[in-house]
Amino acid sequence: QESNIQPLSNEKFLIIAHRGASAIAPEHTIVAYEIAHQADVDYIEIDLQMTKDGVLVAMHDEKVDRTTDGTGFVKEYTLEELEQLNAGKWFNKEFPGLANREFEQERVPTLEEIFLHFGDDVNYYIELKSPSIYEGMEEKLCTLLRKYNLIRDTGDLPKVIVESFNEDSLTKFHALEPQLPLIQLFSFKEKAALSHSDYKRLQTYASGIGVNIKSVDQDFIHDAQLNGFKVHLFSIKNEIEMKNAFHLDANGVFTDTPTLGDILLQEE
Ligand code: G3P
Ligand code: CA
Repeated sequence: QESNIQPLSNEKFLIIAHRGASAIAPEHTIVAYEIAHQADVDYIEIDLQMTKDGVLVAMHDEKVDRTTDGTGFVKEYTLEELEQLNAGKWFNKEFPGLANREFEQERVPTLEEIFLHFGDDVNYYIELKSPSIYEGMEEKLCTLLRKYNLIRDTGDLPKVIVESFNEDSLTKFHALEPQLPLIQLFSFKEKAALSHSDYKRLQTYASGIGVNIKSVDQDFIHDAQLNGFKVHLFSIKNEIEMKNAFHLDANGVFTDTPTLGDILLQEE
């Protein structure tokens, strides 16, 4: 079983642009991913939801209310309807100090549009969000990854990593496409803890875990690593958290401000 898992063997401390450069630009828009790419991150992170007509789109919430000018569930919108929504105006209103008129041109991108826009220029860290409400989400992701030839070993970092809080979705994805490294996310309310049997189960499908930096200490991280898992911490918002994550020996971080990673150049 264990030989069926893709190792994440690189030693590089990964900088993952959380929802794109989401502290600087409206999350999950092409401009947010583009700013992250210009900052030379290792991965752009893309949360997936699915439209009524079965198209994978980049959005964190199940509802469009927070990050567009529309209301209601993504699953109640056809792609054509979703494309009418504005995905940047909310950011200018919410963060006037960061407002930029160009953000108001942004729409909700489909995953396919993101692949067409960036191609091989970035690495993709993709979250299956709310898979229990989206029948066939895993198959659709596999199909798109294959269509754009993104399932391959580039000899450097994996081109694609897939993550989810949902264990069933990840095990289903692993059965469909065992070549991709998978990250099991956890939302520990207080102190992170995993038992021997948890690790045994994870070893059948996952290469790493994603946990909130506030929930971990170094013993937890080392224990996870001894069990064979990389540990990626979310969501780093300032220099102190970035340095903490590095000194805790994590293997990477999700950060809203991609340039925060530069602080580590002085640490190495
Ligand atoms: O995927 C890691 C981190 O992004 C989890 O939190 O809510 O931003 O998807 P969330
Ligand atoms: Ca996420």
